[in-house]
Amino acid sequence: MSTQPAKRSARLTVPQFVARKAEGKKLSVLTAYDYPMAQLVDQAGVDAILVGDTLSMVVQGHDSTIPVTLDEMIYHAEMVTRAVSTALVIVDMPFPSNLLGVHEAIRNAGRILKETGAQAVKLEGGADQAEVISGLVNAGIPVMAHIGLRPQLVHQMGGYKVQRDHERLLNDAQAAADAGAFGIVLECIPKEYAAEITKLIPIPTIGIGAGNECDGQVLVLNDMLGLTTGHVPKFVKQYATIRDTISDAVRQYCEEVQSGDFPGPEHSFR
Ligand code: KIV
Repeated sequence: MSTQPAKRSARLTVPQFVARKAEGKKLSVLTAYDYPMAQLVDQAGVDAILVGDTLSMVVQGHDSTIPVTLDEMIYHAEMVTRAVSTALVIVDMPFPSNLLGVHEAIRNAGRILKETGAQAVKLEGGADQAEVISGLVNAGIPVMAHIGLRPQLVHQMGGYKVQRDHERLLNDAQAAADAGAFGIVLECIPKEYAAEITKLIPIPTIGIGAGNECDGQVLVLNDMLGLTTGHVPKFVKQYATIRDTISDAVRQYCEEVQSGDFPGPEHSFR
């Protein structure tokens, strides 16, 4: 038996995450998909890191979140958890890993928790996923729900559009909370609806394109850092222009290799 002490985690726990709502302290959430970015995001003080299935788009280069597999999510989530010491780590259940019945959902979410060290899963769905949410919660797997714009339904929804069905949104939020979800992502819905849902349910609402009255916010890291190419949604605020920084550095490196200015004497051995 190993004499090494068990590595203790000081990560934010699910109950602490939930308690933030009553404490009136907003929650900051960002995505991350690999070790160096997760380490930077964690050390900068974010409350939770989501290994989102946007991995499919921003890392793998697909045009939707549908292609990414459960094995690929696990592969990336394991890198993230290895880097994180204070944030809560949540992993997306990729399409269709939560849609094949409660038993299969427990098997898939169980793999995520066992093989990655993450503390919770997120799945797209509200009322339609209530049975799965409660099955997972009863199995000891914390679940964050995700309603409004559901990118995994892009083909059914006919694109990435603001969702305005007021009754459906309220019903989905209430059903997810009643089923035992510990939090809920509200994506691309009118800010007044998000504010109403936030008052209605006892669990934290995490908005993306849902205004500033949610209990917290989430953004895709690559979007907010200015790493994403092409269309960036209206709800994204770009806090940096990392693409330009990287392009400038690479261009300068190429020029200096050509000119012989790199490597200089300080980078050389005698
Ligand atoms: O996959 C993801 O990154 C997400 C966020 C956009 C909430 O679900």
